[in-house]
Amino acid sequence: MGGAAARAVLLLAAAVAALVGGASAQLSEEFYDRTCPDVHRIVRRVLKKAHQDDPRIFASLTRLHFHDCFVQGCDASILLDNSTSIVSEKFARPNNNSARGYPVVDAVKAALEEACPGVVSCADILAIAAKISVELSGGPRWRVPLGRRDGTTANLTAANNLPGPRDNLTTLQQKFAAVGLDVVTDLVALSGAHTFGRVQCQFVTDRLYNFSGTGRPDPTLDAGYRAQLAKSCPRRGGNRRTALNDLDPTTPDAFDKNYFVNIVSTAASSSPTRSYCPLPARPRRRPSTASPSARRPSSRASRAPWPTWGTSSF
Ligand SMILES: *[C@@H]1O[C@H](CO)[C@@H](O)[C@H](O)[C@H]1NC(C)=O
Ligand SMILES: *[C@@H]1O[C@H](CO)[C@@H](O)[C@H](O)[C@H]1NC(C)=O
Ligand SMILES: *[C@@H]1O[C@H](CO)[C@@H](O)[C@H](O)[C@H]1NC(C)=O
Ligand SMILES: *[C@@H]1O[C@H](CO)[C@@H](O)[C@H](O)[C@H]1NC(C)=O
Ligand SMILES: *[C@@H]1O[C@H](CO)[C@@H](O)[C@H](O)[C@H]1NC(C)=O
Repeated sequence: MGGAAARAVLLLAAAVAALVGGASAQLSEEFYDRTCPDVHRIVRRVLKKAHQDDPRIFASLTRLHFHDCFVQGCDASILLDNSTSIVSEKFARPNNNSARGYPVVDAVKAALEEACPGVVSCADILAIAAKISVELSGGPRWRVPLGRRDGTTANLTAANNLPGPRDNLTTLQQKFAAVGLDVVTDLVALSGAHTFGRVQCQFVTDRLYNFSGTGRPDPTLDAGYRAQLAKSCPRRGGNRRTALNDLDPTTPDAFDKNYFVNIVSTAASSSPTRSYCPLPARPRRRPSTASPSARRPSSRASRAPWPTWGTSSF
């Protein structure tokens, strides 16, 4: 993380601290060492069990953490339901019918309440769940500082403004800058989370049939990958809005580097004027099998893939 980004994150952390009434936003890896020493083991156990019935759950929980953090900080506001004082973020356009994993978070919370009642915040549960999800998917390990407080307010407007599949690079950079994230390092690293998980057809259809209103496909999409997506997402009929597609067609459930490998490999073989690509374009050749998922995480990979996650409460 660059010095400027680090400063921005610190400033933001200070702003968050001010917002919660001057409470310290100091996070620490040892936060629950005395009060809930088994917190990681308990979260891991519940996640592993959930994964037996739902192979998508690790990607879903990672996205849930991002959708929480991007909206006024990692405060678990995404978990709040409608009430007299709250308009839930769950029904914001980027979340409605696509944010997943709420029952698993509830199961984690229930298990933690049994072991150490009233101790672990839901915001920390989301952060730990994302970290363990990446680890269990073959990704790198990192230590996550803890001690986040749960928010008591939601912001539907901000949730509706999450980075979206139709945003161009300028818009994405504006949105990242607005929450104190680096517009290069963080944007690239966080995009890499599309190395696992699924995408509904409704987020892909424009690029298959009507890219930027041109009435034509996105010219930067690899032809083979486009044909494959078009089969799953027909222009009309079927469940053309909600059918699911692998975000990374090479290793769909592994947290590895193939999202980047796929983009570079397509960029190398197509027009130099390609636009930013929120969906990975399929490589012409299968990428090297020497992906991180095929190996044990090395110590070099122990740094967080998302430099600002867990090191602040942005
Ligand atoms: C919560 O409130 C929003 C906004 O008023 C509404 O669109 C949504 O349907 C509500 N959800 C539930 C479950 O009541
Ligand atoms: C959320 O999705 C449901 C369909 O499952 C739809 O009826 C509802 O209008 C959507 N809510 C919003 C706020 O878009
Ligand atoms: C909600 O988020 C919007 C957009 O980020 C922001 O302009 C607004 O001030 C926020 N509302 C509150 C009450 O914080
Ligand atoms: C990016 O999108 C915004 C909002 O839709 C638009 O105003 C802007 O002109 C676009 N910029 C580029 C470079 O396409
Ligand atoms: C393509 O998108 C443009 C702009 O959103 C819209 O005006 C047009 O009707 C669309 N064309 C088709 C065939 O859907």
